[in-house]
Amino acid sequence: MKTGIQKGLLILMLLLPSLFSPLLAQERRPGRLFPPAKISVLEGPREWQDAEKVMDMLGIKKGDIVADIGAGAGYFTLPMAQRVGAEGLVYAEDVQQAMADYLSKKIETLELRNIRVVMGRPDDPTLPEDSLNLALLANTYHEVGMPLLLLENIRKELKIGGRLVIIDWDPEKESPIGPPRQERVPEDTVIKEAGQAGLGISERQRFMPYHYFLVFKKK
Ligand SMILES: C[S@@+](CC[C@H](N)C(=O)[O-])C[C@H]1O[C@@H](n2cnc3c(N)ncnc32)[C@H](O)[C@@H]1O
Repeated sequence: MKTGIQKGLLILMLLLPSLFSPLLAQERRPGRLFPPAKISVLEGPREWQDAEKVMDMLGIKKGDIVADIGAGAGYFTLPMAQRVGAEGLVYAEDVQQAMADYLSKKIETLELRNIRVVMGRPDDPTLPEDSLNLALLANTYHEVGMPLLLLENIRKELKIGGRLVIIDWDPEKESPIGPPRQERVPEDTVIKEAGQAGLGISERQRFMPYHYFLVFKKK
């Protein structure tokens, strides 16, 4: 039997993290993680999301160090590796081991030496601090349950002047494919959450039929 004081202490201990960390307190129920059994859906060309056009908009330079967060089957990882060249580096990060294993095999087969596959945590890609010129989060934000913690950690991992690009399914747009509209995160919510994590919006592009494309900068 717990005394009243013990119960009070227990409640206080449970509440403490959320009192001291507003970031921890702000969680939401995320969309489902993309099932590895359907990985083939992530391969192949997307006429609604042309990878080379996205690369052009990202403005990656030779020698850059970049991250593909929520890399999946590597739809963006491979063209990113081509853009950074042999002197650059792409971290291909995911939270599902099956995705990381699939991508590792692909990279090995293709003998690509400038990609490093990383198993991260849902709240942290676990990449070196102050290391990235650019982080890309494509078709993934709606699967994230602790967006503020994740954004805060990405901000730490970006260099000063580094950019975070978030591309995701727009709940305002009807689409024949993609996650249910109620699982998608509105553009304004993403901008607000990034702002809370210290990332200011610097650019928006509207060239995809079903997605927003938002660029944030670490100041
Ligand atoms: C729909 S897939 C998109 C994959 C790839 N970006 C693409 O566009 O083809 C989303 C991926 O994000 C991963 N993911 C979900 N939440 C994540 C998180 N918090 N951090 C890193 N990866 C995450 C999932 O495991 C999945 O592989």
